[in-house]
Amino acid sequence: MYVREVAVIGVGLSRFGERWDAGLKELMAEAGLHAIEDAKITSDDVEMIYGGTMASGSFTGQEHVAALMSDQLGFKNVPAVRIENACASGGSALRLGYIAVASGIHDIVVVGGVEKMTDVTSSEATSALGGAGDQEWELFQGITFPGLYAMMARRHMHDYGTTEEQLASVAVKNHDNAFKNKYAQFHKKLTIDEVINSKMVADPLKLLDCSPISDGAAALVLAPLETARKYNDTPIKILASEQASDTLRLAERDSLTGIKATSIAAQKAYKHAKVSANDIDLAEVHDCFTIAEIMAMEDLGFYKKGEAGKAVADGETTLQSKLAINTSGGLKGCGHPVGATGVKQAVEVVWQLRGQAEGRQVKDAEIGLTHNVGGSGATAVVHIFGRSN
Ligand code: COA
Repeated sequence: MYVREVAVIGVGLSRFGERWDAGLKELMAEAGLHAIEDAKITSDDVEMIYGGTMASGSFTGQEHVAALMSDQLGFKNVPAVRIENACASGGSALRLGYIAVASGIHDIVVVGGVEKMTDVTSSEATSALGGAGDQEWELFQGITFPGLYAMMARRHMHDYGTTEEQLASVAVKNHDNAFKNKYAQFHKKLTIDEVINSKMVADPLKLLDCSPISDGAAALVLAPLETARKYNDTPIKILASEQASDTLRLAERDSLTGIKATSIAAQKAYKHAKVSANDIDLAEVHDCFTIAEIMAMEDLGFYKKGEAGKAVADGETTLQSKLAINTSGGLKGCGHPVGATGVKQAVEVVWQLRGQAEGRQVKDAEIGLTHNVGGSGATAVVHIFGRSN
């Protein structure tokens, strides 16, 4: 049972990208120390740590990452638990942190997410990421993550007339936003032609339709809303935290053109927050591939089925729009260190709601949403945030 409201009182991010200068420890310290400083807490205040990472063992050989996070941030004897839920590890860690505070069990909780993916070859990374799907039925048969999302894209194109240009417009918009984000992996604007003419990865998805392999970390600090102002003048309220699951393998889903776990988690979140899709000013959605952003826009109820592709191409989701999507640059432009992504999405929404998003600030942002997916949709986590004054 929820007994109290929860607020984010501090956030921090490492720079995302190919970080030859930093290992797991340095990435966690970069993000974590910023979050602690931002929250104005001391290490004595922290009661619990949840650390999200998907495949630190496969990528770096390092397991036991939450304890390492605690050690690295100087928390002595604070309980720390690693959360693994594929690319939704960060979002799930945040949800558990939220539950710990909302239930009254803990007061100050640190939530972190990290992944160091670039120390292995692309094929080793592809194989590690494949573990998010069904090993026996998908990866062992030769299907990769770009391959799974390519099938969803093809079916969406078949059923709704979605075009390659519409897919490409997601990448163009998100690289435009990433260009304004100093933490982003890519600071390179794209054109539709560049995306369409980039090398084929899994038809119809090209290189520039895909999120990259990335290193990065994100962290935030949670507190009960009633005492949040003791630490921070601009606490951001968590209005809802919901999650749903679906079959691990794509072949058993009811539909290939949407992610049912997203729709279920979103509907529960809107109900809990007492808002509707129309009230959302900005959303960080899980655009691991361009088709994923289009499906998310529909599954989250922002657009009717089949209408999101045209909306992005028509410029309806830019920083100036009524609903801005992926202001950070999303997974596509900002980068996708898988275990960090769900936490990074929340960090971006907090900055936006505080009015601290610098050159990519959405005007008068009051309500923000994050959407974090694990695998090809077997897990979806949705959070809704609001200003507390
Ligand atoms: N977007 C933009 N540029 C990218 C990119 C991406 N997704 N991936 C790589 N690049 C760039 C690199 O920076 C590099 O540029 P440079 O030559 O200027 O240095 C160039 O393209 C080649 O990079 P390389 O690492 O050789 O690419 P690759 O072919 O090994 O990997 C993908 C490309 C698309 C296969 C890889 O990024 C990938 O697997 N992405 C999907 C990750 C994924 O599945 N995540 C989980 C989702 S659920």
